[in-house]
Amino acid sequence: MLTDQAQMLRRLVTEAAEQQAWRTAGQETLRPASADRPELPPPPESLLNRPTTVSPPLASPCPGADDAPPVIAPNPPSPRARIIAVTSGKGGVGKSSISVNLAVRLSQLGRRVILLDADLGTANADVLCNLTPAAGLAHVVAGRRTLSQVTVQAPGGFKLIPGASGLAAIAALTEAERGRILTDLRRLDEQADVILIDTGAGVGPNVLSFMLAADQQLVVTTPEPTALTDAYAVIKTASRRRADLDIRVLMNMVRDPEEARSVYQRLEAVCRRFLHLSPGYAGHVLHDPRVPAAVRKRIPFVLDNPRSQASICLTQLAHRMDRHAAEPVGAGLWHRMTAWLVDRRG
Ligand SMILES: Nc1ncnc2c1ncn2[C@@H]1O[C@H](COP(=O)(O)OP(=O)(O)OP(=O)(O)O)[C@@H](O)[C@H]1O
Ligand SMILES: [Mg+2]
Repeated sequence: MLTDQAQMLRRLVTEAAEQQAWRTAGQETLRPASADRPELPPPPESLLNRPTTVSPPLASPCPGADDAPPVIAPNPPSPRARIIAVTSGKGGVGKSSISVNLAVRLSQLGRRVILLDADLGTANADVLCNLTPAAGLAHVVAGRRTLSQVTVQAPGGFKLIPGASGLAAIAALTEAERGRILTDLRRLDEQADVILIDTGAGVGPNVLSFMLAADQQLVVTTPEPTALTDAYAVIKTASRRRADLDIRVLMNMVRDPEEARSVYQRLEAVCRRFLHLSPGYAGHVLHDPRVPAAVRKRIPFVLDNPRSQASICLTQLAHRMDRHAAEPVGAGLWHRMTAWLVDRRG
């Protein structure tokens, strides 16, 4: 028998599935309940029917492809790097595409940007940038290089720390290895204004450690039911480990801004009811065939076609992130790492 929360999640994804019918022709099925899915008291029946309280839109809807890209005006630099973990529950929702293109756009705003490809199983940010770096995170994990030493210049002006694709041996890092990477990451604090971390998918210890070490957690999801329930699982797991997370939900591959906002609102309502937290709304990126087209060319899509719908959405996202980058950051990375390591031992 389904718990009430499971029923609520089912309802969340069912409504999302209806909205997705145009793309998926009703092929979605709910994932089987996992051990991570919570068993919590029933929500009031009226919850999803009530108007949800959400923060005002952070940006206007993405304009059409014919609109000119917004004028880029750099903000003053921030005192230390803001670390943003780009993460998701389900794989293939667009984390790497968004990380790379956000890195390009933030660089174009005048920020010093480092992208750490921390997807230790299927890293591919280098492929998206048509780079063939000689070394990457595998060498850092092995203790042969530092993060600085494996950093390469990427198209669009940002710096990339390549991942370690295909090396199953480091797909599951030891705690000491994760600690070494995070300590090394701290040394980059003064070399960048923004450090983006493409964490890979799921709620494994590698992903969690990078999420918990970040100032902000950008949870990428699509409106697909499986992506939504897995996004919820990530938010739940991470928020139980650190209470002061700054979680924002980014809706990717959406049909239009209305779909993005209404799906976000339902996810936010479930989080508010069962997790007692309200993840912010980071905005949306429209479904755009020019994204996979640019992947095939190995060019970041904002460089390949700056006026495409997805590129314009990325420009808006970068502007919002850049405004946040000017805000003072909370506890330093070292403090958070220490808290996380203590928590691991406790
Ligand atoms: N807005 C979009 N419109 C159309 N296609 C998109 C969009 N965003 C991403 N894609 C496509 O979705 C696929 C998966 O994207 P990507 O590799 O960035 O996902 P990911 O979350 O990093 O995956 P993984 O979990 O395997 O690391 C790619 O083929 C990409 O071109
Ligand atoms: Mg990826």
